[in-house]
Amino acid sequence: ERQEKEALILVNEFAQQWFADQLYNTDEGKSIALSYFKSRGFRREVMDKFGLGYAPNARNGLLKAAVAAGYKEEQLDKLGLTRNKKDFFWDRVMFTIHNLSGKPIAFAGRILKKDVKAPKYVNSPESEIYYKSEVLYGLHQARQSVRKLDNVYMVEGYTDVISLHQNGIENVVATSGTSLTPGQARLVKRQTENVTLLYDGDKAGIKAALRGVDVLLLEGLNVRVVILPDGEDPDSYMQQVGTTAFQEFLEKKRRDFLFFKADLLLEEAGDDVAARSDAIRSSIATLALVEDPLKRAGYLQQFTGRLGLEESLLVNLVNQAIADRR
Ligand code: UTP
Ligand code: MN
Ligand code: MN
Ligand code: MN
Ligand code: MN
Repeated sequence: ERQEKEALILVNEFAQQWFADQLYNTDEGKSIALSYFKSRGFRREVMDKFGLGYAPNARNGLLKAAVAAGYKEEQLDKLGLTRNKKDFFWDRVMFTIHNLSGKPIAFAGRILKKDVKAPKYVNSPESEIYYKSEVLYGLHQARQSVRKLDNVYMVEGYTDVISLHQNGIENVVATSGTSLTPGQARLVKRQTENVTLLYDGDKAGIKAALRGVDVLLLEGLNVRVVILPDGEDPDSYMQQVGTTAFQEFLEKKRRDFLFFKADLLLEEAGDDVAARSDAIRSSIATLALVEDPLKRAGYLQQFTGRLGLEESLLVNLVNQAIADRR
């Protein structure tokens, strides 16, 4: 089984090289894909580091090349690189998904045409070497920096990881289109206990952050959140303001999960007493996920101060929420 997995990784390594070759060494790749990446500000060094490539506008180039190089069609099928004797990825710029040790385990392809109804990204299906709920995009490239800084930024997209990395923020990983899973939280926890969610500044991003907070707390992580300006994602905001201002923004806007959630819900609730009570109760339920009693007490103390409510009242609510979970 282990040999089988290693064989599949070799096939993906071939595919990654082939996609890169199409990008850098063909007229089609250069004019369509390389120019696209350049227009997004990606430099060669970071493109190599993240294994970017191009799947041309034809449907059997990879299959032909791989079979000629001695790889089996069956293996390509297993990896989702081919289907019914056709390439699965075509007419897209390619992103390689690596495992923790830097081996290619899957791919994602981004469409370039804006008018087409097809999904923006297509991803490899799961395989013997790719369980998407157990993978964080960019963790291999981020690992050193995550350990050194003892913090990781969690973003939504591939290009967010690449863009921040290129601009000097290397402790970044992406969940890539899935909502954050317990497996991903455990993966992070082996590198650091401090996670900062940095999702897109839109409704979907905020909703995903609310869900992500609970998943991370349940694994015992310290969770902070930064909300980007409306309509921005980490990549677009970095391109707009540059590294220094971006870093300052992160410092200034970083909040503990509790105040992120409470402020958000309380703002929605406005002056309505019943809605405010629901907001507080829901925030308390999230606080109750914190296992460490000392941290829990610390957050609660700050929270009480902010709300101007009786401390004993909130303590009771937290204890109730903990009891409800059991
Ligand atoms: P976004 O729509 O925010 O894309 O999706 P993006 O990452 O900013 O990409 P660019 O800047 O437009 O190129 C966030 C992430 O959700 C996943 C991808 O991982 C993407 O990076 N996604 C999105 C999909 O898997 N499929 C999709 O059709 C769209
Ligand atoms: Mn630590
Ligand atoms: Mn978005
Ligand atoms: Mn983007
Ligand atoms: Mn985005």
